[in-house]
Amino acid sequence: MFGARCLLRALRSCSSAPCPRHKPSAKLSVRDALGAQNASGERVKVQGWIRSVRSQKEVLFLHVNDGSSLESLQVVADSSFDSRELAFGSSVEVQGQLVKSLSKRQNVELKAEKIEVVGNCDAKDSGFVHIHTPVITSNDCEGAGELFQVKPSSKIKVPEENFFNVPVFLTVSGQLHLEVMSGAFTQVFTFGPTFRAENSQSRRHLAEFYMVEAEISFLESLQDLMQVMEGLFKTTTMTVLSNCPEDVELCHKFIAPGQKDRLEHMLKNNFLIISYTEAMEILKQASQNFTFTPEWGADLHTEHEKYLVKHCGDIPVFVINYPLALKPFYMRDNEDSPQHTVAAVDLLVPGVGELFGGSLREERYHFLEQRLARSGLTEAYQWYLDLRRFGSVPHGGFGMGFERYLQCILGIDNIKDVIPFPRFTHSCLL
Ligand code: 4AD
Ligand code: MG
Repeated sequence: MFGARCLLRALRSCSSAPCPRHKPSAKLSVRDALGAQNASGERVKVQGWIRSVRSQKEVLFLHVNDGSSLESLQVVADSSFDSRELAFGSSVEVQGQLVKSLSKRQNVELKAEKIEVVGNCDAKDSGFVHIHTPVITSNDCEGAGELFQVKPSSKIKVPEENFFNVPVFLTVSGQLHLEVMSGAFTQVFTFGPTFRAENSQSRRHLAEFYMVEAEISFLESLQDLMQVMEGLFKTTTMTVLSNCPEDVELCHKFIAPGQKDRLEHMLKNNFLIISYTEAMEILKQASQNFTFTPEWGADLHTEHEKYLVKHCGDIPVFVINYPLALKPFYMRDNEDSPQHTVAAVDLLVPGVGELFGGSLREERYHFLEQRLARSGLTEAYQWYLDLRRFGSVPHGGFGMGFERYLQCILGIDNIKDVIPFPRFTHSCLL
């Protein structure tokens, strides 16, 4: 979806031979280019991936890396080279003159004469690095205690009591690992299996499901986060609709008549935004009798979520700023009173209810320290606190349940019908 696909695309386009052949003497790795002692205008060619783009009025700066060096090579080009294709992640071949740099930051730079884009990296996809977060972990990210513990099945010879010295579990979210990686790569994502020991046989809960999660550094507002969430939903859905229209059509025709129009309605409207407090007001004024009475401080149940989406004209709706007491320790304190809320956001969609869960993260050391202390987690999360001691930045992210996403776009009522081997309480066939 994001960076990994761009990388594959770039690799593919190179191996299928459109890359023209040049004299080996003219081609330099980034490492060799950076190491050139007396650069004085030799004509060279460098191939690599764009790590950053800085466009000024008359000059364009690119940083290109080919993996041969941690440092990237600065490419200086005339602003006439500027194009949408020269984006983060695109693979390029640059020909030009290797010259001494005027800046103290690098010895040499490449004065571009020709820039060829080998593999595009769509600007909408750009910048997200795919991280494989672990399945086995020692943390309970969501703090809800819905963990499956992992242990060796038989007595094996390990000196310690536990195989890993500490109790370990199947992951409930890759978020905390993504937060570590977002300190290096700015925008990261993961897509993998997620496990929750929720005692639920509902239409929208599985014990094993897939989640796509993203984490973004230097992100300061829920508004910016919601834009990414809405963009992900809409671009993914449009890609699915254009790449596999027959499959979608089949579901829409035989399983969910009318779903095509409902989906179009979701795609063409801007998603709505209401606060948790407003949501509670709407629910309190509803003529419907709910099983769980809506009250400020209480969780939103499926029946409430469904009502809210209907109330919003069947357009997906972001609910933001939930009570602090309802949400995990990592969410950013809004410091509001008397209602104490955190910068959380859930996206509710027709037919399913909650599809995305996300938040700004508490990046301030002392706030986080206090939250962890209150939950008795200080020791276990020392490493997480350390992230706030060394170069902490405002950041945020979200997770979207993949099976719920399929339910939503295909109009499938029960989550167990969008996955070949559903796992849920009292059922793990095969
Ligand atoms: O809201 P959740 O619990 O958020 C997190 O795990 C965050 N750490 C994500 C993040 O910020 N990186 O879960 C995210 C989404 C839900 O909105 C829902 O779509 C899905 O994961 N989900 C489930 N899907 C199927 N079965 C379950 N038992 C699910 N629990 C959550
Ligand atoms: Mg949630």
